[in-house]
Amino acid sequence: MQLNLNNKVAVITGGSRGLGLAIAQVYARAGAKVVIASRSRQSVDSALQILAAAGAQATGLACDVADLAQVEALAAHAIDTFGRIDIWVNNAGLSSPYGPTAHIPARTVTSVINTNILGTYNGSMVAMRYFIPQGSGKLINLLGRGDTGSIKYQNAYSSSKVWVRNFTKTLASEYLSSGIEVIGFNPGLVLTDMLSQVHAVAGYEEKVNVVRYVAALWGNEAEVPAQKALWLASSATDGKSGLMTTVLTPGFMLKRLFTTGFKMLLRLPVEMMDLNISSVEPVMALVPVVAEEIIDPRA
Ligand SMILES: NC(=O)c1ccc[n+]([C@@H]2O[C@H](COP(=O)([O-])OP(=O)(O)OC[C@H]3O[C@@H](n4cnc5c(N)ncnc54)[C@H](OP(=O)(O)O)[C@@H]3O)[C@@H](O)[C@H]2O)c1
Repeated sequence: MQLNLNNKVAVITGGSRGLGLAIAQVYARAGAKVVIASRSRQSVDSALQILAAAGAQATGLACDVADLAQVEALAAHAIDTFGRIDIWVNNAGLSSPYGPTAHIPARTVTSVINTNILGTYNGSMVAMRYFIPQGSGKLINLLGRGDTGSIKYQNAYSSSKVWVRNFTKTLASEYLSSGIEVIGFNPGLVLTDMLSQVHAVAGYEEKVNVVRYVAALWGNEAEVPAQKALWLASSATDGKSGLMTTVLTPGFMLKRLFTTGFKMLLRLPVEMMDLNISSVEPVMALVPVVAEEIIDPRA
């Protein structure tokens, strides 16, 4: 079945690059009018040029999702421009440096909390307060690595996603008969800046190198999860509020293990992403740690 979003208006936070921009492109191709936002006006303008060149009906605003007034202004801009909102994707996200929690500068953790937790809360509240009187709407919150457990050396990020998952499930259960679908979406490993431009506490850089192999095994171009986000925003999920879904299904992972993993085993050429690791000075002297694998994409 061909999915379409004809006459729908979709707001995508963090829509200026990476997965958010891919979602905006896929939604626009499916007939939606799209509204994108991120902190950088320049990067919103570049994304709008890309969208316009592809014939999309798109507008955008500089908006820090951590600031409720800016998120309210984003919703007002969507309504002023396109008359309504049908889909809201809380996609804006930040990762924190890899490393032991007490050694990571507090300001980096605070920005993760402000964007991933407060930003998702702000976006959800603004969307719900518009969707409830309308009696319809799709709210899609981006989950991420560690959303069902605890991840060593990525505590702030993974804990923020645990919060997003729980918050999204609870919100869905409270508004089950409202006509609104509230959905959690883990896009798996996506080949974006978040995966390839990483920060690590000095001394932990080597441990992060494994990300290149994990990304080669299970990573996807952003178009792949964006297509799934189209399915989530479409009428295919009507009545499915509370759905928590991921791209990293056991079937997908096994298939990649047997294809790409097999090539790696035979030392055949496999495409590897470039990984740029910037060092962050620890706030106190490091203590010796047991060397261990830090990446389990399913965790
Ligand atoms: N990449 C992965 O492997 C992966 C895996 C699982 C989940 N996810 C989730 O998927 C989502 C998108 O990730 P991505 O890989 O596309 O990341 P990305 O390439 O780093 O892009 C992040 C986007 O969010 C915007 N942003 C960051 N902080 C913001 C804020 N406070 N307010 C508004 N916009 C903000 C950025 O633009 P500005 O810098 O201009 O603000 C950018 O447009 C995130 O929620 C992430 O946690 C990603």
